[in-house]
Amino acid sequence: SFASAQESMHGMMMPMMRAETIKAPLLPHGAVLQEIAKLANQSKQPNLFKADVTAAPTETEFVAGKKTTVWAYNGSVPGSLIEVNEGDTVEIRFINKLSQPTTIHWHGLPIPPEQDGNPMDPVLPGTEHSYRFTLPEGSAGTYWYHPHPHEYTAEQVYKGLAAPFIVRAKDDPLKNIPERNLMISDLKLNSDATIANNDGNDWMNGREGQFVLVNGQYQPVVEVKGTERWRIWNATSARYLNLSLGGRKFTLVGTDGGLLEKPVRDLQVLLLAPAERAEIIVDATGQEGNASLVAEPYNRGKMGHVAAEKSINIAAVSLLAGQSIAIPDTLRKIDDLGEAKATKKMVFSEAMSMANGQHSMLFLINGKSFDMHRVDFTSRIHETELWEITNKSDMDHPFHIHGTQFQVVETELNGIRTPAPYKAWKDTVNARPGETVRIKIRQDFPGLRMLHCHILEHEVQGMMAIQLVE
Ligand code: C2O
Ligand code: CU
Ligand code: CU
Repeated sequence: SFASAQESMHGMMMPMMRAETIKAPLLPHGAVLQEIAKLANQSKQPNLFKADVTAAPTETEFVAGKKTTVWAYNGSVPGSLIEVNEGDTVEIRFINKLSQPTTIHWHGLPIPPEQDGNPMDPVLPGTEHSYRFTLPEGSAGTYWYHPHPHEYTAEQVYKGLAAPFIVRAKDDPLKNIPERNLMISDLKLNSDATIANNDGNDWMNGREGQFVLVNGQYQPVVEVKGTERWRIWNATSARYLNLSLGGRKFTLVGTDGGLLEKPVRDLQVLLLAPAERAEIIVDATGQEGNASLVAEPYNRGKMGHVAAEKSINIAAVSLLAGQSIAIPDTLRKIDDLGEAKATKKMVFSEAMSMANGQHSMLFLINGKSFDMHRVDFTSRIHETELWEITNKSDMDHPFHIHGTQFQVVETELNGIRTPAPYKAWKDTVNARPGETVRIKIRQDFPGLRMLHCHILEHEVQGMMAIQLVE
């Protein structure tokens, strides 16, 4: 696996200080934001969602008059939205028409590991595979699905394979508020409009393209009349989205694994690290006018000489007075995970390695690079543990684990401990350089789980480990 990690780092040699700059073609902008199409349910049985998903290369037109070959689920980028209810059984027949092995990983869902698209379970080119799982009560939330094959995850995601997945609650306290989905992704094009390969800088700092897209569109226009509930996905490889509406206020009501206990009102910025999701309420009434959805500068500690962060316009938002819908003070009850019966420590670090006269970067967990045939942590099923995740590197890393939602207990930076400001279900949490994040976590299925940095280039290059639950 070390050799394979080396292989994936082609082009990652010294001097690594200069990112290659590709002259970006012009992308049209300013069109009305489109909804992500829903995947139709082919089943007539109640509580069963059944559909086909095909991964295949397809042509799209980002730049007028030029074709871009993307890799897509069911022909669109992002892929189609799967929307189901708590308690539903989901049956997906997956067809791989790519030239590489792939899997579908159901990011954030509490499902058995053998259905979760682990790298150990590849679906080979030209073959198909059926995924089947049942979503338990209390699993309502905002998830996504994307490939997770050994070595190719970053490439397959940046070529276009990612799609939203929503689990609806039986009883949703916000059900009377109109919803809008915003899946934010990143696009890096060559000047001829083909998708650019990762360069040395991408393999080090994580890939960031010239364009940030919403639902596959560049700088679209969103019109909000009255109150709306937005689900936002950070589906980029590595971009930190420090989101704002240019000073307008909004309310946070949900995180990765669904609603908070209470709304967090009057926010002006919200940081979404790669792979994180949020549900917010935007109320245009009282703050009408033209605004922008912006990714404000965020210093995530990149290496090498990297241009200073600028703010990026993601979408134009026009806010119009309309019916204002009140948000209840209580959204739901989040159970405590109880007393921890075991503790685990994980340290994220990066190191420079020198092999065959070439420098390359290593991204490590507890000093080790990922090995598909090694168990790194063993946990007991249904038992709550306290994990301490320490970032000893110079850049931020978003920690993610499969198969469950955890709760952040506290963060610690420079000796100062900060308790989590509210209870929330998370499957991804960012760790700043020097920071320790303490979480309570429990797994309810036996088997192997992946945990990793969700900067996908770091995941490919070894910042991933395996938890055995038994
Ligand atoms: Cu979305 Cu293992 O990740
Ligand atoms: Cu995941
Ligand atoms: Cu990382």
